[in-house]
Amino acid sequence: MIGRLNHVAVAVPSLEAGVARYRDTLGAEVSEPQALPEHGVTVVFVNLPNTKIELLEPLGEGSPVAKFIERNPDGGIHHICYEVSDILGARDALAAKGLRVLGDGQPKIGAHGNPVLFLHPKDMNGTLVELEQVAA
Ligand code: CO
Repeated sequence: MIGRLNHVAVAVPSLEAGVARYRDTLGAEVSEPQALPEHGVTVVFVNLPNTKIELLEPLGEGSPVAKFIERNPDGGIHHICYEVSDILGARDALAAKGLRVLGDGQPKIGAHGNPVLFLHPKDMNGTLVELEQVAA
């Protein structure tokens, strides 16, 4: 069911500092910042040859990433994202096996313009998992 690793997301207290680290120190190609108010984050993608790193900075009141940064002031790995070809089919199959989908269970549009869902970390070895539907 799951396909490629699409990205690993790292929450950062400062997007500017995070970008400087990846772009200037590590020499990576970094995208422009993109505000995603529906997800409570501003994101930057670090493009690596085989995957991406998604840098997340809290945006707005009640951002879930703000709470994460409170607990992890230096930042930290926030979630990993796997690709699926049929997100509603994946959701229904996983729910039938007892996995919990966060929120109302309806996919939201993620940073790449594709539908995404999140699985409860308690069902995924303590890791918040994002599923992103990509064209097969
Ligand atoms: Co993500």
